[in-house]
Amino acid sequence: METKIFKNTNEDIEAAGKMLRDGGLVAFPTETVYGLGADALNETAVERVYSAKGRPADNPMIVHISHMNDLKILSPEVTEDMMKLAVAFWPGPLTIVMKKREEVPLITTGGLDTVAVRMPKEPVALRLIEKSGCVIAAPSANLSGKPSPTKAEHVVDDMMGRIDGILMGEECSVGIESTVVDMTGAYPTILRPGFITPKDIERVLKKPVKLDKGLEAKINLEPSKDASSCESSTDFKPKSPGMKYKHYAPEADMVIFQGSVANVAEAISKERHRLEEDGKKVVVIAYENPEEAARNFFSEIRAADKAGADIILVAALEDEDLGYSVMNRILKSSGYNIKKV
Ligand code: TXA
Ligand code: MG
Repeated sequence: METKIFKNTNEDIEAAGKMLRDGGLVAFPTETVYGLGADALNETAVERVYSAKGRPADNPMIVHISHMNDLKILSPEVTEDMMKLAVAFWPGPLTIVMKKREEVPLITTGGLDTVAVRMPKEPVALRLIEKSGCVIAAPSANLSGKPSPTKAEHVVDDMMGRIDGILMGEECSVGIESTVVDMTGAYPTILRPGFITPKDIERVLKKPVKLDKGLEAKINLEPSKDASSCESSTDFKPKSPGMKYKHYAPEADMVIFQGSVANVAEAISKERHRLEEDGKKVVVIAYENPEEAARNFFSEIRAADKAGADIILVAALEDEDLGYSVMNRILKSSGYNIKKV
């Protein structure tokens, strides 16, 4: 299949919008990660998204809108709390799970009677959705299992020849996927942590927000006895069986080091030397703050693979707020391969 490259011009955005309207698949930038868009109400188009990504069909998609009015198309029941969240955080990196209308195909929602909705902040995305005249189902525009794409070149690497068009844009400013909050139960429940934190949501709703059981409990690792050793095997076992599968996985092996700043620096340095003496190509990843980590992590593990790295050594972030959300991605990428030091 030939993939058309669209530039960020009015003419091209209009043409890309028409492609979506006609049932085509078009990847586009958002502030979180690049999305792979299709008309959310067109079953055939949505089916093609699953096959282009190689994604299991029971994994529901987020439907992207450009106007508050579009909510009516998707949900018969937009509660006061949902509106409060939409007003506070849209356009932006928050996805709200609500009851779905019958008109929303089950293939879009992975068979669920709920629909996940987000209004992205990136102006190019908003213009594209508006021009398409549709509501747009868009998972991240990577091959299933690969790191989410935060630059246009990542989408080209994964999707060229598999989809109808790619709308080229800037590097994503947030860099990890949106926070997903389920608003259909007794309590607001975070299904996927992201840039908008539980505290941000609690501040707006003035009620407690829960973490879904499927999310690992906060990782409170005690320092291990043999602090100088890197020989210990995986210390952290996720509670939920589904969490053991690799997501966002680089080709290279990946190990996370968690402990005091000094211990982590020493352990990573030792491990790096040991591996390099063995002739291995090592990439070290460490961040100053969680915003930088969110923005760069997916891009850096893709770059490590391109550079032919054998192993990536990562310094754990502090497991709070945005740090917790980024650690969620780092842990999944490594297959929960974490060492306490
Ligand atoms: O930032 C983002 O959310 C990006 C950009 C493109 O907007 N999209 C994205 O989509 O990350 P995707 O498909 O990679 O992740 C969608 C997440 C999955 O974890 C899925 O299980 C959850 O949202 N989800 C979607 N619909 C849901 C529903 N009805 N109920 C519960 N979870 C849902
Ligand atoms: Mg994804």
